[in-house]
Amino acid sequence: MDYFLVKQLHMSAATLSIILFITRAIWSVTENGLLHKRVVKILPHIIDTVLLVCGVILAIMIGPEQPWILTKIVLLIVYIGVGTIAIKRGKTRGTRATAALIAVAVFAYIVGVAINHDSLSWFA
Ligand code: HEM
Repeated sequence: MDYFLVKQLHMSAATLSIILFITRAIWSVTENGLLHKRVVKILPHIIDTVLLVCGVILAIMIGPEQPWILTKIVLLIVYIGVGTIAIKRGKTRGTRATAALIAVAVFAYIVGVAINHDSLSWFA
């Protein structure tokens, strides 16, 4: 399998993931009915699955025993967890907006981990 192709797919999926997340978070905070459309509910799962599967393939290809890879996996779980508060579990608009900002910050931290190959991310 071509490493650069998988990496390109992984990065494209990451870009689409954050764009879709921010869009849905805005719709959640503004209580826009588009949030409940079938395609809006399903598409993010497909994109996030591609993101994760490509990440795992890359990790296997470069040897998964690097600490920053474990950091990315843990933070991906945090991003998804906080993300579900932003989009559905948060009861008030304030809670959902706060969770959305935290999720975006976690995502930005993950990108720093990816680029610097270091768990300290942008602070490395
Ligand atoms: C929200 C989650 C994630 C985001 C935003 C993300 C983002 C990125 C980005 C931007 C790159 C390219 C870095 C560069 O410029 O060299 C990258 C590479 C990579 N990612 Fe992810 N990633 C995520 C999740 C994961 C997960 C869960 C894994 C492992 C299971 C993973 C494994 C990798 C690996 C192994 C590379 C290749 C590094 C390299 O060749 O330099 N990623 N990721």
